[in-house]
Amino acid sequence: MPQHSTPYSDELAGHPQIAYRNGQLMVEAVPVAELAQRFGTPLYVYSRAAIEQAARAYQNAAQGKRVALRYAVKANSNVAILQLLAHCDWGFDIVSGGELARVLAAGGDPGKIVFSGVGKTSAEMRSALQAGVQCFNVESQSELRRLSQVAGEVGVTAPVSLRINPDVDARTHPYISTGLKSNKFGIAQGLALRAYLDAALLPNLHIVGIDCHIGSQITQLEPYLDALDRVLELVHELEHHGIMLEHIDLGGGLGIRYAEETPPTPVALMSALLDRLERAGQGHRQVMMEPGRSVVGNAGLLLSEVITLKSSLERHFAVVDAAMNDLMRPALYEAWQAIVPVRPRDGTQALRYDVVGPVCESGDWLGRARELDLREGDLLAVLSAGAYAMAMASNYNTRPRAAEILVDGAEAHLIRERETVEHLMAGEQLLVF
Ligand code: LLP
Repeated sequence: MPQHSTPYSDELAGHPQIAYRNGQLMVEAVPVAELAQRFGTPLYVYSRAAIEQAARAYQNAAQGKRVALRYAVKANSNVAILQLLAHCDWGFDIVSGGELARVLAAGGDPGKIVFSGVGKTSAEMRSALQAGVQCFNVESQSELRRLSQVAGEVGVTAPVSLRINPDVDARTHPYISTGLKSNKFGIAQGLALRAYLDAALLPNLHIVGIDCHIGSQITQLEPYLDALDRVLELVHELEHHGIMLEHIDLGGGLGIRYAEETPPTPVALMSALLDRLERAGQGHRQVMMEPGRSVVGNAGLLLSEVITLKSSLERHFAVVDAAMNDLMRPALYEAWQAIVPVRPRDGTQALRYDVVGPVCESGDWLGRARELDLREGDLLAVLSAGAYAMAMASNYNTRPRAAEILVDGAEAHLIRERETVEHLMAGEQLLVF
């Protein structure tokens, strides 16, 4: 790729705060190469300003409306990032006792936590009840009964919202589509009324809402509107049966630009949803949203160093020090994420590389057929790695998980230290012979 004033402008589109300056990649005012030198690689680097900007886009869209924002912790659960969002007055969507502990450690308001997830254990229910969460998004009648029982044991009333599976196609990758009737999630639309009526009879429960989440990386408005229509049908039916709801939770799922996607903005999404509600005579309802990826996804990158360049008879490989354990999305969903050089060369030795990690799996690749001019020791940045990157990282091949850095202006804060092999072996025991 020839070097001109804005190299890789297509790749960088939609990534505020990540740009080239004087021939090198910067996050805010910090040269990424300096971070590699100071903290080593692989390294996750996030921009505070980019996160706040994305959070603010939602907040501006919600301004003056009855909208509650709940960040989906699973996308990136670093406590410093949760703390930033708590500071911006966001609540949280959690799916485990572990995520609850993180939100509390980050200073999140328990009264603004919604607890989602298809398999909450009694122990998780107990700690969430003790913390005083805002509501449980319940996914089955069995879960309703157990929650009622656990709430009785704890001596409190559990606020519940039922997660409906509206059987709507989110038009995304099958592994991240959740609102189809073949998916494990939620209570089928056709069974929901029965579940609500049962819930109303159970002790220790207080029905507060209705919930749906149809998938992730959604790039069109229609699936959201279809899901809302289905939810509203139920709301009418429920009211007819005397069950009044305080809020409608429309989940997360808004996509980001990885390659050429042009997802709706939070403003466009919110105004389309609120407009539809208004027209259905439901404008008075409180709406809840649980975005994850669209808050943090394009605020982060994964920095990696080229270890080895090698060619087979048919391919060129750039073996880098980040791998599928650091970024699972390509291996798991064949996801495409932009890969750009930290210091672009003149392009005279550009080849089409498969960018792969050192893990012993052919599925261990970060990008395929990427036109890059590389030498061993060069630094590469995998973009859009703020969401579902570190959060899904593993220790496969005994690879310690990478450190995380939050850039704030000209400063870089270590928000998670690099794991060591000692950390990984800490809980293991040798046998005694
Ligand atoms: N609420 C619920 C109940 C969810 O299950 C999810 C994501 C969200 C909110 C947040 O969705 P988002 O706004 O981030 O799309 N690992 C996959 C994504 C899995 C998403 C699962 N649920 C990936 O890397 O694409």
